[in-house]
Amino acid sequence: MCGIVGYIGNRKAINILLNGIKRLEYRGYDSSGIAFIEDNKLYYEKAVGEVVELEKKFNGNNFNTNIGIVHTRWATHGVPTVENAHPHTDCHSEIAVVHNGIIENYDYLKSYLEEKGHIFKSQTDTEILAHLIEENLNNNLENAVIAAMKMIEGTYGIAVISTKDPDKIVAARKGSPLIIGIGNQEYFIASDVSASLEYTRKVVYLDDHEVAILTPDKYEIKTVENILSYKRVEEVLWNIDMIEKDGFQHFMLKEIHEQPQALQNLMRGRVDGDKGPVKLGGLINCEKDLLAAKRIVIVACGTSWHAGLVGEYMLEEFLRLPVEVEYASEFRYRNPVIEKNTIVMAISQSGETADTLAAMREAKGKEAKLLSVCNVVGSSIAREAGAGIYLHIGPEIGVASTKAFTAQVAALYLFTLHMLLLKNKTSQVVSEMINEIRSVPDKVKTILDKEDEIREIANIYKDKNHALYLGRGYNYPAALEGALKLKEISYIHAEGYPAAEMKHGPIALIDKNMPVIFIATADSTYGKILNNIEEVKSRGGKVIAIATEGDIQMKGKADHVFYIPKTSDSLTPILSVIPLQLLAYHIAVLRGCNIDKPRNLAKSVTVE
Ligand code: G6P
Repeated sequence: MCGIVGYIGNRKAINILLNGIKRLEYRGYDSSGIAFIEDNKLYYEKAVGEVVELEKKFNGNNFNTNIGIVHTRWATHGVPTVENAHPHTDCHSEIAVVHNGIIENYDYLKSYLEEKGHIFKSQTDTEILAHLIEENLNNNLENAVIAAMKMIEGTYGIAVISTKDPDKIVAARKGSPLIIGIGNQEYFIASDVSASLEYTRKVVYLDDHEVAILTPDKYEIKTVENILSYKRVEEVLWNIDMIEKDGFQHFMLKEIHEQPQALQNLMRGRVDGDKGPVKLGGLINCEKDLLAAKRIVIVACGTSWHAGLVGEYMLEEFLRLPVEVEYASEFRYRNPVIEKNTIVMAISQSGETADTLAAMREAKGKEAKLLSVCNVVGSSIAREAGAGIYLHIGPEIGVASTKAFTAQVAALYLFTLHMLLLKNKTSQVVSEMINEIRSVPDKVKTILDKEDEIREIANIYKDKNHALYLGRGYNYPAALEGALKLKEISYIHAEGYPAAEMKHGPIALIDKNMPVIFIATADSTYGKILNNIEEVKSRGGKVIAIATEGDIQMKGKADHVFYIPKTSDSLTPILSVIPLQLLAYHIAVLRGCNIDKPRNLAKSVTVE
C-alpha cells in the first residue's frame, strides 16, 4: 500500500515521476504528492484524490529538475488530506520523505522530537522520519537516514531528498518493497518494477535493512551497518504492453480475458507430454523435503487464501496428506504448532503481503520448510521461501484479483501432480489429470465468449443490495471468491457460504430481494445442491445457477442458468469462477463504480 517512485538522471524528472506513479496507483489512490530540487531549492506539491489531480498542478510547468520523488497514498495514520499526503518535510523544508509502511514507535519519537523543538504539520507517522533525518543531518544524507533507521520500529520503504545533499536520492527498506531501476545514466527507485519498466528492464531488488544511494552517475547499496552490498542486476521479463490496458476499458476486464493465455503461460514448459512429466523447476532443490512432508500448512490472505482452500481439497484428495489453510494474519499471532516435516506454503500474487510474509517468518523460526506460490518474480515472499512456483502470468494490476486466482489454483494442481510423480504414482490418474488441465484454457475461452449472457443477468440484479453465493466441495472456495469480487468492486454486500450451511443461518435472509448464486456443476455434490436450490426457491429467493453444459433440468429449477464446460471436480473452480468474475465486473460497471480502484482497497497490502 502506497507507491513510491524516485528519479535521478539526465532527463526532466517531473513527467517521468508522474507517469511512474500512475503505474503504482493500484497500491493506493487517496492522495498523492511530489517533491523535487531545482536551483538548490526544495519544491513540493500535493493533492487529494487520484494522481491525475496532482498532474493538473503541473500542466504547462517549466521545471527542469532531474531529481525528485513522488508518492501515492493509502491512508494508515491520518485521513486523506493535503497535509497528510506525502512527501513530508522537516521544519525548514530542506528534506522531503515519501514512505510506504508504518512507524510503530511513532508516539514515542514524536514526543522526543517535539521536546527538541520540532514542529509537526500532519497527523502521519511518516512526518517523524523527516524530522528524525533533520535531527541527524549534517551534509551526508545517507548517514542521517541510517541514523534514523536505527531509531525507528515498524516497516518502511522510503525515499528521501534534501537540499543539504542535493544530487542524491537515498532510499531504505525494511518490510516494504523497493527496487532500483538501472537506466542509461539514470536511476529509479520504485515500489515495483512497473514504474520504471518504460525506461529500463534492469533492476536490483533491495533487501530489508539496506540503504540505496542514487546519484546521477552511479548507485550504491549499503547495509544499515554501513557495509557495501554487491547485488545481482536482474532482467525483468515483463514488457510495457503487459502493463497497458490493451484496448480494454479496465485492467480487471483485460485480466479476466487474459486467463486462457495466463493458464497456458503457467503450464508452458511444465506440462509436457500426455503422461508428464510435470516439471516445476523451482522445486528441484527441495525434493527430499517434499518426500518427507507429513503435513502442509497454506498461509495466505484474500483471494490467495481462497485459492489455498481449493489446494487443500486437492492435496488431501490426491496425496492423502493433511492440509490446513490459514489466514496469514491469524497464523502469525497464535503460536501455531509446526512439527518437523511440515511444509508451510505461502500463496501471494504480489509476494509482498505483510501478514503472509510475517507468517512465513514465524514458520521459519519453527523450522518448517517454506515454499511459495507467487506471481511477482523477485518479490519478498518468493525470496524468503527460496523455493516454490512462479505463476508467470504477467502483472495483475486490477485491484480485484482475477487471473491470479485461476493461475494459483492451476499451480496448486501442478504441485499436486509434481508430488504424485515424486512419489512414483505414475498411474492412469496422473495422465488423466494432465490431459484435463491441458484442456482448461480452451474451456475458459468458451466461457468468456458468452460474456453477453452475464451482462444481461448483471442488468437484472444491478440494483440489489445483498447477494448470497453458495457452493459445495471444490466450488465452495469459488463461492467465497465470487462473493468477494462482488463486494470489492460493486460495494454490494455479498457472502459466500458452503451450500449446506445455508440452513444454519443465511436462510433467514432469503426473500424475493435476495439473489442466490449457486455453483451447481455436475459433480459428486450435485444432488445435494439441487435440494438447496429448492429450499431457496420455496422461500421466494431468486436463483442464478452456474451449471454444467447439458444439464437441462437446471433450466426448470433456477431463474437463470449459465452453462460452463465439464471438467474434473478439482479443476471446476477455475471454470466456475469466471462467470462470477464477469458478473461482479458488469454489475460494478452498471453501478458506475471505479473498477480498477475500488474505494478503500489496495492491491498490495504491505501493512498489517
Ligand atoms: C489485497 C488485494 C486482494 C488480494 C490480497 C492478497 O487485499 O486487494 O486482491 O487477494 O491482498 O494479496 P496477495 O498479493 O498476497 O495475493
